[in-house]
Amino acid sequence: MAFIKNFTWGVATASYQIEGGAFEADKGLNVWDVGSATAGRIFEGHKGDVGCDHYHRFREDVKLMKELGIRAYRFSVNWARLIPDGTGKISEDGKRFYLELLEELKKAGIEPWVTLFHWDYPYALYLKGGWLNPESPKWFENYAAVCAELFKPYVKHFILINEPECFIGLGHFTGGHAPFLKRPAGEVIPAAHHVLLGCGLAEKKIRAIAGDVKIGTAQAYWPFLPYREEDYELAKTETFRCHEDFGGPALWLDPLLKGEYPADYLAWFERNGFRPSAEDMALIASKLDFVGLNTYSGNYVTKENGALKEVVPSPSVPKTDTRWNVYPDVMYYGPKFIFERYGLPIVYTEDGVALSEWKDLDGRINDDSRIDFLKRYLRALHRAAQEAPVEGYFYWTLYDNFEWAEGFSKKFGLVHFDPDSLERTPKKSAYFYKKVIETNGEEIFR
Ligand code: NOJ
Repeated sequence: MAFIKNFTWGVATASYQIEGGAFEADKGLNVWDVGSATAGRIFEGHKGDVGCDHYHRFREDVKLMKELGIRAYRFSVNWARLIPDGTGKISEDGKRFYLELLEELKKAGIEPWVTLFHWDYPYALYLKGGWLNPESPKWFENYAAVCAELFKPYVKHFILINEPECFIGLGHFTGGHAPFLKRPAGEVIPAAHHVLLGCGLAEKKIRAIAGDVKIGTAQAYWPFLPYREEDYELAKTETFRCHEDFGGPALWLDPLLKGEYPADYLAWFERNGFRPSAEDMALIASKLDFVGLNTYSGNYVTKENGALKEVVPSPSVPKTDTRWNVYPDVMYYGPKFIFERYGLPIVYTEDGVALSEWKDLDGRINDDSRIDFLKRYLRALHRAAQEAPVEGYFYWTLYDNFEWAEGFSKKFGLVHFDPDSLERTPKKSAYFYKKVIETNGEEIFR
């Protein structure tokens, strides 16, 4: 009944969402430090300046993870903490912080999975055009080289980028995330291409420096689902189709794993005046060891009168506090679609649920709905794992943290975090997840 032996069970966080210490030592600013200061962008004016104060409390946090039986920890490096200007001089303090964190994890027997870039782009590079600048792939490659060199004694798993769908789509196209730009597709498509070039260059650089390591990405993945079993191919096609935005997985994974953009994306690029060169495609093509997926929900599709129809959820479908539909099927069909297209092992680099909840008068957080969510999603994943190589699962997230434009209002954590007292309190689900890990998944069937 269990998952494969050596299945990776972890939790995930991201630097801007938890670190705080925004103005500590010689750390450079990033686009979230700067962008979140403008009124009206973030829920009730929340900021990540203090975050969960992880920068000062990382030892306590590692201890907490150990107590909760967490085996792997996915976190991201704040690029401008390590290299204040994005390129050039390395910060001694940034270096110290990440090496001390890695040392602490090592002592606790927790395996680090390091994401190089989770949206907090160095402001100094943003002022030079950021991802819109054709030099940006090189900047990322250099940064990856610094990380590989510094972290190689500790790190065996690198995740190049987190959800380009969001930092490009939301960050540069629709404007809801830093750097809060709304640029036309003709400008954003080259930026997306630069991200991919950066990944291609970084992948080769990391292998050259760190040798025998596993490298992947973490995609925002909201698959389309078959409403009826006969809608399987339809849902799969819809999942990988170009929707003329930056959200689809094929835009990001096909170039890296097949060395080409799908034809429908190329046609969209062409209409927007962009044609990628063969030399660039050769640099982008990469040997990834796994596909990392961040999945929370999806959409059902079917056919009606011969035409595709998105199914409106019945009012009885449970909704999370972010108003995402609870659709466990995403964890069954999602990995199958990815495996059928790319043939690589799959790691869930994120999955989780935000609930409206608070500490009860007795000081406890009885988040039974999160436990139920975990059971439903992990059972579906277990089913998928009988048909596709699913190698790991990272719950999003360790503790409640800064949920981007939603500030601290959306709570995904296994551990409650109080932004006033900075206190961490494990929720009931944290103990459930501990049992899931101890039993390699069997607890989800009890
Ligand atoms: C996607 C992102 O990677 C993460 O930063 C975010 O907090 C969660 N999913 C929840 O929205």
